[in-house]
This record gives sequence, C-alpha cells and structure tokens, in this order.
Amino acid sequence: MDPILLQGWVRTRRDAKAFSFIELNDGSCLKGIQIVADAALPDYAHITKANTGASLEVRGRLVESKGSGQKWEVVATGFTILGEADATYPLQKKGHTMEFLREIAHLRPRSNLFGAVFRVRSRLAYAIHQFFQDKGFYYVHTPIITASDAEGAGDMFRVTTLDLANPPKTEDGAIDNAKDFFAKKTFLTVSGQLEAEIFACALSNVYTFGPTFRAENSHTSRHASEFWMIEPEVAFCDLNGNMDLAEAFVKYLIRDIRTHCPGDLEFFAKFVDKDLLARLDFVLDQPFKRCSYTEAIEILGKSGKTWEHPVAWGDNLQSEHERYLTEEHFKCPVTVFNYPRAIKAFYMRQTDGCAEGRETVAAMDLLVPGIGEIIGGSQREERLDKLRAGMALHHLDEKNYWWYLDLRRYGTVPHAGFGLGFERMLMFVTGVGNIRDVIPFARTPGTAEF
Ligand code: 4AD
Ligand code: MG
Repeated sequence: MDPILLQGWVRTRRDAKAFSFIELNDGSCLKGIQIVADAALPDYAHITKANTGASLEVRGRLVESKGSGQKWEVVATGFTILGEADATYPLQKKGHTMEFLREIAHLRPRSNLFGAVFRVRSRLAYAIHQFFQDKGFYYVHTPIITASDAEGAGDMFRVTTLDLANPPKTEDGAIDNAKDFFAKKTFLTVSGQLEAEIFACALSNVYTFGPTFRAENSHTSRHASEFWMIEPEVAFCDLNGNMDLAEAFVKYLIRDIRTHCPGDLEFFAKFVDKDLLARLDFVLDQPFKRCSYTEAIEILGKSGKTWEHPVAWGDNLQSEHERYLTEEHFKCPVTVFNYPRAIKAFYMRQTDGCAEGRETVAAMDLLVPGIGEIIGGSQREERLDKLRAGMALHHLDEKNYWWYLDLRRYGTVPHAGFGLGFERMLMFVTGVGNIRDVIPFARTPGTAEF
C-alpha cells in the first residue's frame, strides 16, 4: 500500500517494550487513528516527547489492525514532532468540567466534545444557506453598525470613538453626538430585520445570517450578548405562511444534521444527552402544534402548577411557562401566536377585530422542549397609519425610522419573517445545555476573554 502522511495532535501515548501506540487526531472527525511506532525506528528515542497535546507528522502504511478497538492503524516508518507539549497541557485525559473548559476556550476545540460541537456548527451554517438558496431566497448582508433600534427595546451596545473622559459638548452641556465618528449615535445591531424588510420589498424572498448583539443583563444558559441569527423575510406572506416556513426550516436542519453528522450526534447521545436522537426523530415525525397566546394563558391557568412568575393575559411568557407548554402540555414543539400588542415589538401587524382591551399582534414564537423559544417572528404591519400608531404606543421617534415608514408609503405589501437563534438551534441538535458551549468564544455579561 502507498505510504501516507498524517498530521495532527497526540491524544494519548502508551509505551510497550518494543512499540509505542499513539492516538493521533486532526479534528476532521471524532475518531483519531492509532499509530504504531516500532522501537527500531531511527528517531525512536524522541518518541517520549510525543506527549498529549504535541503536534506530530507521521509517515507510514495503513494496515488492518490486529488489536481490538480499531479496524485500521498506521505503522510508522518515520515521524517528526512539530511542536512539543509538556505536562502543563491542560487537556489531559481526565474529564474536565464545562466551566474549566470555558476558561481554556483556545484549547477546548481539541477535545472530543468541542470538536464535535464546532463541526456540527459548521455543518448547520451550511445547511441554513442550502435551505434558503434551494428555495430561491437571496442572502442579504445587513449592517452590523446601525443607528436604528430594530426591536425598539433599547438594549443596544454603543459604538463610539468619542473620548469618554473628555467628550465634546453642545452649548447646553450635553454630549455632542454630531461630533462622533458617524455624526450621530450608533450601536451594534440587535437584528437585521428592518433592513431585510427593505430587501424583501424588492427581491421578495430574502434572508440574513449574521452576528447580533444584545446588551441585556441576562444571566441564563440561553442568552449571550453576541449571538448569530438567521432572519428570513418574505413578501406576500402572512403569519400562517411564516409558521409553515419556520416549521419546514427547523425540520430541514434537524434532518440535515441527522444525515451528515452521525458520528458527532452519537457522541452527544452517549455523553451529553441520552434522549437526544429519540427527541430529534420525534420532532421530525410530528406536525408542530399551534396555539394562540390566549389559549396558552388558559392552559397555564388550568395547569395546577405554582409558578415562580404568576401569569395572566397581558403578561410576557417566562421560560417556565414556555417550557411547560412544550415539554409537559403539548410534549412537542409548539408555535404560540397572536400575542398582546403591548408586550411585542412596534413593527408587528395588529390583528383585525380584537376585543376591546385585548388587542393582539400577529406575532409567533416557536418553543421547543429543553430550551423554550428558538424562533421569534411576526407578520409585519404594512399599513402606514397602523405602523405609526404602533410606534407611538412604543414611544419611538418616527424621525429615526423614516426609511422604514417609506416602505409603507411606496408599494407596500403584506410580508412576514422570523429570527432563529443559531446557538439555540445548536443547543437543540446537540443537547448541549449552555449557550456558552456552542459558540467558539462566548460574550456574556462580565466575560469577553479571547
Ligand atoms: O425574538 P427575537 O428578539 O426576534 C427578533 O430579533 C426579530 N427581529 C426576528 C425577526 O422577526 N426577524 O430574537 C429571535 C431569536 C430568538 O427566538 C432566540 O432564538 C434568539 O433569537 N435570541 C437569542 N439567542 C441568544 N442570546 C440572546 N440574548 C438572544 N436573544 C434572542
Ligand atoms: Mg423573542
């Protein structure tokens, strides 16, 4: 057989009398390969430097393994140690806590678990593009630095080059934002939706896929300050079409990962979440449930549960309520729709014919077991007067949204869209329980190392 060249990192080395056995892994898949180095090799004395973590180049022949545990192994004809690693290398064989591994985010991709997570992350990104591209959606790059608050919720990170110790002032003593880099106040975007709407109202079917930023002080396992979001936006589409698209999208992604990442998924099923595969297959088989917010409130009221946050019509659903609905009541992913107008964003379409005091908007949240909300979306308010009323209700200044209002002045159309949290979807398909462990370098309140 032809000689082969292997390059990778040593996972373990075991020395016997006449041989050394090295487990080498290059991160391309979960499994490494066993190298057998004969004590008769010219540089054999150096093999003791091939410690866990060292990088190694091996020339050799692929042969069927005589040992148990692997089908193939490589009999080395020569090797070069590219980079040594001593006993301080933190990823020794023993199990480490997830908290410790977060502190060494520069090395954790070399572990089995994180190698698997980041391979699945890459595949999931690919599948997302494939889903939309195959459906004829155009990919739009929306800005990261923006002057508009897409959610109108105010939790944005400021972008400025002003000297914070000595900012320029206006005559009345306020900070003079006109002297800032962009001659106005700017921020990191919370969502590409408003700009995606511009493009949907031109190219009909579009999506964005990029980083978004939220300066909320949430300390949970599902919130990050920097996360990636996929936001399709569809012209000539209503809330039902939007719910159908979200369901087809989530199922497509699960099916793709199920098909293309079998080794990594089996690893998660073995070491992270033993119910993972059954849950993913169950989700693929079921039509998702749909339930209005008003029905959801009734279900929660009749549940007999004592809630940490008691809930009545008009309240936001908390995580405990969302999880009850999907995990205990429906036992299935569920899309909750038509939420109270006051608790949802200004751009959502007012539902016609609501009862007095029970105004709702055409919002939808997709809730899944183990996580809660993974998708939030809505039909957009395409009627100029109603949109202006929504902005007034949320105390937003029309001046900042002049271009968004123009979309309703010129050739307005019904349209709808949603946002899928990329990391939450990854948590769902891997079973990994903390958002910090599915993003390469987590940004959360108090943490921005690396
Ligand atoms: O529900 P959200 O806030 O909706 C929007 O931003 C809309 N503009 C989307 C749209 O209609 N185009 O966020 C959408 C999704 C959530 O369902 C959640 O999965 C994820 O983004 N998400 C977060 N993920 C991680 N960390 C956070 N802090 C998140 N906030 C939202
Ligand atoms: Mg939401």
